[in-house]
Amino acid sequence: MAHLIAPSILSCDFGNLQKDVELINASEADWFHVDVMDGNFVPNISFGFPVIQAVNKLATKPLDVHLMINDPDRYLEEFKNVGAGILTVHYEACTHLHRTIQRIKSLGMKAGVALNPHTPVDLLFDVIEDLDLVLIMSVNPGFGGQKFIKNALLKVEQTKNLIHRRGSHAIVEVDGGVNLETGKELLNAGADVLVAGSFVFQSPDPLQTISSLKQLNV
Ligand code: DX5
Ligand code: ZN
Repeated sequence: MAHLIAPSILSCDFGNLQKDVELINASEADWFHVDVMDGNFVPNISFGFPVIQAVNKLATKPLDVHLMINDPDRYLEEFKNVGAGILTVHYEACTHLHRTIQRIKSLGMKAGVALNPHTPVDLLFDVIEDLDLVLIMSVNPGFGGQKFIKNALLKVEQTKNLIHRRGSHAIVEVDGGVNLETGKELLNAGADVLVAGSFVFQSPDPLQTISSLKQLNV
């Protein structure tokens, strides 16, 4: 499949969120990447339901919600209600991961699992068939603008391999430190979705930057 681009709204101008949401609507981006942080699973707090709901009212593309929160089971239904189309939980934050995945799907959302840089891909062996998406973290979650961790390339290959071995339909998304250079390497390794925050919104022309990411050829 042609790869997808998911700009992260974490790097938007929160004083004028509508402008950046409309920019993403008008761009070649495929999804909105929405980073939720609880100040507990990660050492940062981002935003919650009212902000996501406001984005969803304006957005014309699916919300790809990345939960960096402990025990996400408490809030799955609320995330559905504010507009999540894809809901991704962290492997490291779920005690009963299989149950969490089933609940996300029964609520009518696509289910994703994210892996921190230190978490081996093989730990997904028993749930990969149930997943719609695997999110490989190429930075330690919590902040935008960090340096890409190269080992993510190997993990993308390993994830693709696991998906094929197990006959899963899951796609592979990568998050953190994505730019044109790392983006190209990730696509070569088999990534299906690229998340990009600071590279897009700190560039002089975000619309054009999204386009260059979308036009990357492998
Ligand atoms: C990091 C978040 C990312 C972040 C990426 O914890 O999950 O989605 O917005 O930002 P960049 O692209 O700046 O690394
Ligand atoms: Zn993210």
